[in-house]
Amino acid sequence: MTYSSLRKGIILAGGKGKRLAPLTKSISKQLMPVYDKPMIYYPLATLMLCGIKEIMIVSDPDHIGLFRKLLDNGKEWGIDLQYAIQQKPEGVAQAVLIGEEFIGSNNVAIALGDNIFHGNDLISILRSADSWNKGGTIFAYPVSDPENYGVLKFDHSGSVIEIEEKPKKPSSQYAVTGMYFYDNTVIERAKKLNFSSRGELEITDLNKSYLNDQLLNVKMMGRGIAWLDTGTIDSLQEASLYIRTLEYRQGLKIGCPEEISWRQGWINDNQLVKLANNLSHSSYGEYLRRLLEFKIKDPLSN
Ligand code: TTP
Repeated sequence: MTYSSLRKGIILAGGKGKRLAPLTKSISKQLMPVYDKPMIYYPLATLMLCGIKEIMIVSDPDHIGLFRKLLDNGKEWGIDLQYAIQQKPEGVAQAVLIGEEFIGSNNVAIALGDNIFHGNDLISILRSADSWNKGGTIFAYPVSDPENYGVLKFDHSGSVIEIEEKPKKPSSQYAVTGMYFYDNTVIERAKKLNFSSRGELEITDLNKSYLNDQLLNVKMMGRGIAWLDTGTIDSLQEASLYIRTLEYRQGLKIGCPEEISWRQGWINDNQLVKLANNLSHSSYGEYLRRLLEFKIKDPLSN
C-alpha cells in the first residue's frame, strides 16, 4: 500500500488522568483495560489502519518504560515504535516539539491515547484526510456535552470560523476529536505557541493557527462512527461494554494491532502464529490463531 508513506504517527499517552483517580495514582490511564486489551491498542490500531507504520509513543517519566515493556520496538508487529518522555503534562501540542526530530520533514498524525474510534466509514475518512498533504485536518463529532471539548463555531454557509476550548455556552454540538493530521508546518506553528492560562500548549491553538491561514480541513464524523473518550470512570466502563458487545456478537476484534498488521501484509502467517503462540492461554491469543485457521475475512473495517 502506498498511502501514508510520508506520514508519521504520535500517540499521547501521558497526562494527569485526574478524573480517573485513584485508578491513575500508580498506573497510566492508557494502560488500563478497555474490555480485553490495553487502552493504547486502540489509537495504535487506528493509526495502523491509516497505513502509518512509524509511531512514537509519548508518556511521562514514570510510565514510559511500561509502554516499552508492553509494545517493544514494534518489529514483531511489522511496525516501528519509538518512545519519548514528556517531563510534565504541558499540553497535547507539546508532542510536536517533543517529536520534532522524529517527524523530520514528514507529515504527522497525532492521536490521543485515550480516544477510541470505530465504525464503517472510519478508514475512508482517515485515508482521505491522510491524502491531503497541505494544512491540517481535524475531525468533528456531534456530542451531547460539547462544553467539555474544543467546539466548532460555523458561519451561515457551514464553514468553521472559530474553535472554542471548553466553552460555557457552546455555539454548536460539534466537538473536535482526539485525532489530528498535520503537514510539516506544524513544527514551526507549535514553536510559536504560548502556554495557556492552565499552563499547557493547547492543541486548539495549534488548530487555530491552521484555521487562521485557511488551511484547516474539517471532516465530519457522523452517526455511523463511534468516538469514545475514556477519560472518566463511566466513559471507561461504557467503552469496555461497547467493545465487548460488538466483539462478542461478531467474533471479530476491534483495535487488534496484530490482526491489522497481518491484513495489511506487514507480517505473514508464520509471524502471526508466533504472536498467537506467545499469548496461547488467553482468548486474545486464541483469536489470533483462529484468524489463520478460518482465514476470517474482514475488509479491514474495524
Ligand atoms: P486529557 O484528557 O485532556 O487530560 P488527562 O488525560 O491528563 O486527564 P484528566 O483531565 O483526567 O487529568 O488528555 C487527553 C489525552 O492526552 C490523554 O490521553 C492524555 C494525553 N496528554 C498527554 O499525554 N500530555 C499532556 O500534557 C496532556 C494535557 C494530555
